[in-house]
Amino acid sequence: MSYANEMKLEFDSRSCNEGFARVAVAAFVTQLNPTLEEVADVKTAISEAVTNSILHGYEGKICKILIECFIDGNEFIIHVIDHGRGIEDVKKAMEPLFTTKPDSERSGMGFAFMEAFMDEVKVESTVGEGTRVIMKKKIGRPRSEYEI
Ligand SMILES: Nc1ncnc2c1ncn2[C@@H]1O[C@H](COP(=O)(O)OP(=O)(O)OP(=O)(O)O)[C@@H](O)[C@H]1O
Ligand SMILES: [Mg+2]
Repeated sequence: MSYANEMKLEFDSRSCNEGFARVAVAAFVTQLNPTLEEVADVKTAISEAVTNSILHGYEGKICKILIECFIDGNEFIIHVIDHGRGIEDVKKAMEPLFTTKPDSERSGMGFAFMEAFMDEVKVESTVGEGTRVIMKKKIGRPRSEYEI
């Protein structure tokens, strides 16, 4: 029997909630017996995606960010969703060092970090409708069905 679990979180696009999202997702992923390094990787990826929704998606407006987490066997899947301005050219946005806010201390490395720390990163975005970042990572060892 394969182990499956799911959770959803919705919160305001305030920068103080970035830490909350990071810790909540890390707590959820703990059930996969991750290494400390794997937890740190997931936290970094979540931080980058949530920060992007706050800064670029909503540009300071207070709206809702949704995080959906799924566990499928030993794979951890996260969706970070905003209904903000969207991304015109996703391929370009994902290039290392590309940023549309070069004058506000952005380095254009957020997507590069997500790709470095997760196994897979996909971005679905429509201008004027919003952005969904889908990330996947195989974590720890698979649990036996007796532990569930
Ligand atoms: N949720 C989003 N909504 C709208 N635009 C986004 C979103 N996420 C990313 N972008 C666009 O993609 C670009 C690249 O994002 P990335 O995270 O790689 O760099 P950055 O946020 O500009 O800089 P850094 O993450 O290093 O501080 C951003 O500058 C922005 O234009
Ligand atoms: Mg960023």
